[in-house]
Amino acid sequence: MSFNLENIISIRDFKKSDVEYILDLAEDMEPIAKSEKVCHKKDGKLLGVMFYEPSTRTRLSFETAMKRLGGDVIGFNQKQGTSIQKGEVLYDTAQIISQYADAIVLRHDMEGAARFISNKVDVPVINAGDGAGQHPTQTLLDLYTMRRTLDNINNIKIAIVGDLKYGRTVHSLVYALAMFNAEIVFISPNELQMPPEILKDLEKINCKFSIKSSLADNISDVDVVYMTRIQKERFPDPQEYLKVKGQYALKGKDLENSDVIVMHPLPRVDEISFDVDKLDNAMYFKQAFYGVPIRMALLDSIIK
Ligand code: CP
Repeated sequence: MSFNLENIISIRDFKKSDVEYILDLAEDMEPIAKSEKVCHKKDGKLLGVMFYEPSTRTRLSFETAMKRLGGDVIGFNQKQGTSIQKGEVLYDTAQIISQYADAIVLRHDMEGAARFISNKVDVPVINAGDGAGQHPTQTLLDLYTMRRTLDNINNIKIAIVGDLKYGRTVHSLVYALAMFNAEIVFISPNELQMPPEILKDLEKINCKFSIKSSLADNISDVDVVYMTRIQKERFPDPQEYLKVKGQYALKGKDLENSDVIVMHPLPRVDEISFDVDKLDNAMYFKQAFYGVPIRMALLDSIIK
């Protein structure tokens, strides 16, 4: 099998065989990610990280991944202290980073930013989240978590809960789940349902889904509950956020006698209570670790 994508922009650019290639390669990377083996595959190579929005996991797991491969990292994690503050535009900043680094990882609040930059620079570009658009590397680590935990990602039933309107992780994830014939239960307040154009896409590809609003009534027969944070920062009107805030909170008692796995891209605010953390169902911290082997696999595949 080979992997021919030059940039990682949207999960919709992936064929099922591309996804499987990265998941298999991530498995080979795990001993290096756990520091059980040393790797020099990317000695002398530099990753340029450009984060215009806050991040803990994505940025630090990319940095970890590049360093575990033997490479190094340059870049910024906020606009402060860069010439963006003097008015430099994204296009110019990306041109400059592309002169220094062998690949760029970009997080930006504008949907389409990574695609735009990938067409303008001569190094591979990875989308680390573009507004409410896509977060393809999160999707790959989500699938990897399911495969490592459930052994199989074909024909699973998954409840996706919370902010389905603004959550870019779920906008990416559903397309990948459809490749593996998942049945999806969308659970959200009416105001935060999955965008109609994505539902139409899912219908076109015969993905089985249903739309619900109650968490308690709809998780008893699923393999995975995927919780998400309400994306406060994307609401044009703060009053609208206050109306939907705190509507879903998964508690330990909701999982009694259940072997459903609980995932969350994190950060969490109040959607999973801390008493879930100690249960075997809780997979979200392990999920964050799996970001390292997945991002190692991606960097290994696109940095020549
Ligand atoms: N899951 C995720 O994207 O987390 P960060 O915002 O911390 O990178």
